[in-house]
Amino acid sequence: MTRRRWMRLVLATWILPFDFSPSVTAQTPRRVGFAQVGAESDWRAAETKSIRGEAEKRGVELKFSDGQGKQENQIKAVRSFIAQRLDAIILAPVVETGWEPVLKETRAAKIPVFLVDRGITVSDESLYVTLIASDFVEEGRMAGRWLVEKTGGQARIVELQGTVGSAPANDRKRGFEEAIREHPGMRIVRSQSGDFRRSGGKQVMEAFIQALGREFDAVYAHNDDMALGAIQALDAAGLKPGKDVLIISIDAVRAAFEAMIAGTLNATVECNPLMGPLLFDTIEKHARGETIPKKIINPDRLFEQKDAAEAVKGREY
Ligand code: AHR
Repeated sequence: MTRRRWMRLVLATWILPFDFSPSVTAQTPRRVGFAQVGAESDWRAAETKSIRGEAEKRGVELKFSDGQGKQENQIKAVRSFIAQRLDAIILAPVVETGWEPVLKETRAAKIPVFLVDRGITVSDESLYVTLIASDFVEEGRMAGRWLVEKTGGQARIVELQGTVGSAPANDRKRGFEEAIREHPGMRIVRSQSGDFRRSGGKQVMEAFIQALGREFDAVYAHNDDMALGAIQALDAAGLKPGKDVLIISIDAVRAAFEAMIAGTLNATVECNPLMGPLLFDTIEKHARGETIPKKIINPDRLFEQKDAAEAVKGREY
């Protein structure tokens, strides 16, 4: 073999396969697991797309698991990520409690866990690195304050709650109740879970109409999908959603803007699902040994019908 050939061989087998680009370091996590809640809403689909897209952009191998709304599936997924010795785990926890045992296992395996969008209740917060999320309590407050203003503090409200035991359902309820507390004319006359699903919102709204007839003035839905289902039920019952009944929900997905433009939804509070870029920046910073705050909060705002046509332009979800 000539000296030149020998050099080429060395280059091809030893040197070229390594990635020397400046953004890739020995500590950059390359194999990451993502235990997602499921696909219950448009918001969830947008979050999944953002995280998957960002992983692809950065050349991260993302092992994705759809928990189908069940905590036991998510726990199984986390255990399988441990068995595969992944570099990091992203968890969007369906409910707040019951995570301590599996997080002790991730800690024993030295795999850092990053929570996205929903918080958990654990006695030891060092079991996860950080939570990247919206302030759900504040979202509930924004919805409550808007409704107080629009109704002059007088409304019989029906509430469509999110998944029982989930952080957004608990916190959005709490924030809304806080905002209407000082207004005795604001009464929640019915409250039930529609599980963050369009079908759930429709079914629960049908039951509310059955029980109350027209004896309510406003709908507060913990997400847009349930509000959109409720709009279908109100329509079918001969009521005019957005006019006979005021409707406010949370998420600000594209379909909510379309409903506001059509006049059937009155307002929506944004909850930003585009977590991918910030999430992977955070995972990389942590791998480089930087200090990460325990909570990273996405700022949100409220949109009304008058903002909808302009705001929907160029919207990513
Ligand atoms: O955790 C965020 C919530 O979960 C979104 O508001 C809802 O649409 C989703 O399913």
